Amino acid sequence: MENYLINPDQKISMINKDIYGSFSEHLGRCIYEGLFVGKDSDIPNINGLRCDVINALKEMGLPVLRWPGGCFADEYHWKDGIGKLSERKKMINTHWGGVVEDNSFGTHEFFELCSQLGCDTYITGNVGSGSVREMSEWVEYMTFGGLSPMSELRRKNGREEPWKVKYFGVGNENWGCGGNMSSEYYANEYKRYATYVRNYDGNDRIYKVACGPNSEDYNWTEEVMKNAKDHMNGLALHYYTGTDSYAAEFSEEGYYKTLKRAYKIDEIITRHLEIMNRYDPKKRVDLIVDEWGTWHKVEPGTNPGFLYQQNTMRDALVAALTLNIFNKHSDRIRMCNIAQTINVLQAVMLTDGADMLLTPTYYVFKMFKDHQQNTLLGSFITTHETGTDENKVPQLVESASIDENGVIYSTVANTSASEESEIKCRIAGREIESVSAEILTGKTDDFNSFENKNVVFTKDFGGFSLMKDGFNAVIPPCSVIKFIIK
Ligand code: AHR
Repeated sequence: MENYLINPDQKISMINKDIYGSFSEHLGRCIYEGLFVGKDSDIPNINGLRCDVINALKEMGLPVLRWPGGCFADEYHWKDGIGKLSERKKMINTHWGGVVEDNSFGTHEFFELCSQLGCDTYITGNVGSGSVREMSEWVEYMTFGGLSPMSELRRKNGREEPWKVKYFGVGNENWGCGGNMSSEYYANEYKRYATYVRNYDGNDRIYKVACGPNSEDYNWTEEVMKNAKDHMNGLALHYYTGTDSYAAEFSEEGYYKTLKRAYKIDEIITRHLEIMNRYDPKKRVDLIVDEWGTWHKVEPGTNPGFLYQQNTMRDALVAALTLNIFNKHSDRIRMCNIAQTINVLQAVMLTDGADMLLTPTYYVFKMFKDHQQNTLLGSFITTHETGTDENKVPQLVESASIDENGVIYSTVANTSASEESEIKCRIAGREIESVSAEILTGKTDDFNSFENKNVVFTKDFGGFSLMKDGFNAVIPPCSVIKFIIK
């Protein structure tokens, strides 16, 4: 029996809803086909955006969306994607699959997407192959309400009012596909570009995000913080859980190896934060994780540049333990964006023409949405490690939060492929009125396919008994459970 203690009097930090954000790049079938099919498509759409996908993302509670890349961002010239459709430039997406990019999805279409989703916007600008002027004019085009060349151009293209850009990224992976820069060089470039990301009257201040480290590159964090910390609001870490297997074909060893890699993000976040806190003891600069998730071998027969992969319960466990870790760091983490929204890497949805399915990862996000904007509570669970000799992870990984009505939400993942775990949960100093729960569970390699879309989905869970001050529960192997405690 494991002991699980939740302390409603220990209120730690607000879990920013943007931790549950997503990322959509001009890559494979994410933007085109996944989100955007064009107004003339037979697939039901509003202004070119797929109704089935938009509705599902709204139900999932998507709070913020990052666009247009990724590596694509540092090759993207925003003026190619505005104005009359027939006159937009066609180009080759050299980074991703060598396909034609017809620029039919551009700035106006992105804001239409976010407006239909009711979510906030996160735009990444081009540092690698763009100019300071190009970036500064994009910000002026999007956010300036007065009279200027760019605001007039926006009006000419049919949009009178400025839009709200909540977050603006100054480049992407500038240590790699965004220009192969050294950290010192990027820090200087960051300051130069960010200076001209202006805040215009009447708009909220734009939250500026600097390109952060690739996983364990602590030197990058050190140098960028040392040289540019006063000019940024957030520093964006990228961390992928890479594997050498197909998404749905792996051994037990492969399962635990993946979870161990995913769990490493806890240590990586902690170490980057230690460096950030040294340069910024007042903790003004937030940590952002604007690309994370699993990266498996592409599905056989698909374009290798499209990064299309299936999604199993293994991915669901990666999502659940990562989101629990993000919640636990919510005092310093402001936003995270899973890579990517649809049809690419750890997607929450997959499409096949007009058909669409929800992946196990989708259900995890939907379960966890109750944490958004809640207060993280002090909580602790005893657990032992599970796995193989080489690859071990804690069997139980959890977080708990409280909403403004005093309702407590606890999300618990059991990472063991084969063993259940009995827990005794106590809510310190509280008498419990009711507990309800839902579960996502299955075999580690279960997934939803277009032939059978309902192999994995959430169900009500009744495997617990109520006590005066908590409950006892048996958590099945390979499962994610959300408890709602009143
Ligand atoms: O998400 C796919 C790619 O991974 C992004 O374009 C890039 O930023 C990262 O390397």
